[in-house]
Amino acid sequence: MMRLMTLRNGNKIPQIGLGTWQITDRDLMKQIVCAAYEEGYRLIDTAAAYSNEIAVAKAIANLPREELLLSDKVWNTNRGYEAVQEACRRSLKKLKTDYLDLYLIHWPASGKLYPNWSDINADTWRGMEALYREGLVRAIGVCNFKVHHLKELEKTVEVFPFVNQIEIHPGKNQQEVITYCMDKGILLEASSPLGNGQILKNEDLVSLAEEKGKTVAQICLRWEIQKGLIVIPKTARVQRLRENFSAFDFKLTDSEMEMIDNIPYCGGIGIDSDEVTQFG
Ligand SMILES: NC(=O)c1ccc[n+]([C@@H]2O[C@H](COP(=O)([O-])OP(=O)(O)OC[C@H]3O[C@@H](n4cnc5c(N)ncnc54)[C@H](OP(=O)(O)O)[C@@H]3O)[C@@H](O)[C@H]2O)c1
Repeated sequence: MMRLMTLRNGNKIPQIGLGTWQITDRDLMKQIVCAAYEEGYRLIDTAAAYSNEIAVAKAIANLPREELLLSDKVWNTNRGYEAVQEACRRSLKKLKTDYLDLYLIHWPASGKLYPNWSDINADTWRGMEALYREGLVRAIGVCNFKVHHLKELEKTVEVFPFVNQIEIHPGKNQQEVITYCMDKGILLEASSPLGNGQILKNEDLVSLAEEKGKTVAQICLRWEIQKGLIVIPKTARVQRLRENFSAFDFKLTDSEMEMIDNIPYCGGIGIDSDEVTQFG
């Protein structure tokens, strides 16, 4: 059975959601989102940068809004107190909704681009807090923040992030940031929980999947769920929605978890938040 996680403000969030990056076709989005809803998915992860907010709006038009959790992200060109609030209002219009359930900063300002990255993140965060207080967003968080980004933010925040969405999958454990966030009560969302599809041929994962009578995707998602992470796998194929959702129906043993913990890097997105230069 799919579980609900609790944010520090008491709001609930499903432990699995639908990733929508790279789904832009409106008909396909509608088909996937409606099938996902039928399957039991309630959390939808989008971003201004995915250029699919209007497609998401059309897809959810006939679904009960109050049952859904919409998660969106502000893009890097809208950093700062005013700009983030304006960007959020634009996204709300595109999504045809009065509120977001979760609003995230897509990337921290990178040290490579900005000597004052820490001030920029603090200023953007003040705008996020204003949106939260106004009730336009029911929870606020960050993506791709490493421990040093969070520690800097901590110096000026009034509302600490509720969520950090960051790339985590077999081969990319992110143990340092997981430990830090869990200690601070920040829920972790594993983005690219299947390593963007690139890790599914890993031999250790393939043989464990065969042993357990599961698919490699289910093994990856189960490993993440069992670590207490939220997962947002993306699929553009209806038949994979159920497969991914049923990662809740079995368990990995401690030694199986440990084996996966020790898999070396074997693919994924692999962007370093301190190095990004191409993202504005
Ligand atoms: N915050 C960030 O910076 C950030 C970064 C990356 C991703 N994200 C979020 O995380 C979501 C997921 O990450 P992702 O899109 O990079 O990749 P992912 O979910 O790790 O993997 C998706 C890939 O795996 C395939 N796939 C899905 N289910 C499968 C299954 N059961 N068996 C075999 N292949 C399967 C998909 O192909 P098909 O579509 O053909 O099924 C697709 O190629 C994104 O959509 C986005 O919402 C956020």
